[in-house]
Amino acid sequence: MVASDKEKILILDFGSQYTQLIARRIREQKVYCEIHPFNIGLDGIKNFDPIGIVLSGGPASVNEKDAPKIGPELFSLNVPILGICYGMQLLTLLEGGEVCKASQREYGRTQMTILSSKGIFAGFSKDEPITVWMSHGDRIERMPSGYISLAITSNSPVAAMADSAFRRFGVQFHPEVVHTPRGREILANFLFEICGSKGLWTMSSFIEATIKQIRERVRDGRVVCGLSGGVDSSVVAVLLHKALGDRVVSIFVNNGVLRKNEPEEVVQTFTRMGIPIRYVDASDRFLSKLAGVTEPEQKRKIIGSEFIAVFEQEARQLPNVTYLAQGTLYPDVIESVSYKGPSATIKSHHNVGGLPERMNLELIEPLRELFKDEVRELARELNLPQSIIIRQPFPGPGLAIRILGEVTKERVNVLQHADAIIQEEMLASSFYEQIWQSFGILLPVRTVGVMGDERTYENVIVLRVVQSIDGMTADWVSLPSDLLGRISNRIINEVRGVNRVVYDISSKPPSTIEWE
Ligand code: XMP
Repeated sequence: MVASDKEKILILDFGSQYTQLIARRIREQKVYCEIHPFNIGLDGIKNFDPIGIVLSGGPASVNEKDAPKIGPELFSLNVPILGICYGMQLLTLLEGGEVCKASQREYGRTQMTILSSKGIFAGFSKDEPITVWMSHGDRIERMPSGYISLAITSNSPVAAMADSAFRRFGVQFHPEVVHTPRGREILANFLFEICGSKGLWTMSSFIEATIKQIRERVRDGRVVCGLSGGVDSSVVAVLLHKALGDRVVSIFVNNGVLRKNEPEEVVQTFTRMGIPIRYVDASDRFLSKLAGVTEPEQKRKIIGSEFIAVFEQEARQLPNVTYLAQGTLYPDVIESVSYKGPSATIKSHHNVGGLPERMNLELIEPLRELFKDEVRELARELNLPQSIIIRQPFPGPGLAIRILGEVTKERVNVLQHADAIIQEEMLASSFYEQIWQSFGILLPVRTVGVMGDERTYENVIVLRVVQSIDGMTADWVSLPSDLLGRISNRIINEVRGVNRVVYDISSKPPSTIEWE
């Protein structure tokens, strides 16, 4: 937990897919907040010491037997509460009201009329209905006593409500999604008018608080940090170096499936910043383990466990290490955990999982609560080189999951070369920074072509360029045809063994970003 500021909002998560958006919308208004599972308990809430609590939405129905619940002891804290959707229904139940199945599910954009321009609707007009986004199957049948309805829609006589003291609010709609255009103002009213926040949280206050917290936690201990060269782990390495100086060692493992020149660039960058790193070239070791393997999840498992073995071997040579730092971000946390336990694994994302227990190391994850764009802001604040700040996400298993079929040194070379051309052209255009990821994939098929007078029978490279907020959903990007043409021409002319380039026009879902 990062005590960045005295003014913290606690979001209790009841499993909504939008919970992280609530956090984002709050932090965008310069108020620090964290998401915790609904069942952290009264002591957990007291320890966190929030100035306001948001109860998130969730997929359950409050009347179900095993629906996630909290007890009314929450009210003993006398902290302002905003219940969103499921959170509102739970608030209703806890305060003695009644929730029942709606005769008609309300889903999508709805016009809402405001009945009271006070509290969370301060500054709103009663005469101009606003657009809100609904997604619920239950409705408030009877409000708790003392509560008043603040807004109605054609389906909901209680689209928003407040207690008589205007300290507890419930909204049936989702103010956190973009489809509720004035949602930001509603949240701002809760944060500033109701909770009394001043909105002073900044990235530099986050840096200061994090450094202080790392020092307090580690004291005179030593930390090993897994460095991949991406923006997340680089920020972690710099933060730790600032906090602990040479009591942190960052280990950078070359697994043989990195991008072209990546190891050299990472080593150079950190050397220039005066941050010592331990570079381990284990590429042969990884490639020999991958020989003959074609199944995607098996590739991930091999790379994951090999990484742990190499990392462990290196870390064991460092005396008295008791902590392991890594650049886990918020989306990594929620992709692997849900309020009821581990969610379905679509792809087992590789991190240094397993190491902490094996080596008896405690984890330090200073970015656990942040989103990618916040980490980039942090990187800027820490004066990291531009090349790291803007670096696109790169999967732990690297090119191995972009080389469909068997991964061999030759095939790695082909993809590295094609990928380097893609990166060069994307960087030279204005697109690289505007999109989420751009990369190549090497297919396990060959196609017929003609070069000069010769028939060729060679590899196909797929170009994949996607836009995304957090990697969980993504759209393919409509690149200008001259840029597509340039990339294709260069790959076919410059990369030996490739005679065709195709463009991937699939979105996630139903596709995924990576091909494996
Ligand atoms: P998918 O392919 O699941 O990718 O749509 C979503 C985001 O996650 C990255 N990704 C991975 N990252 N280990 C990682 O560290 C993995 O095994 C892995 N698989 C996918 C992917 O690059 C995209 O940004």
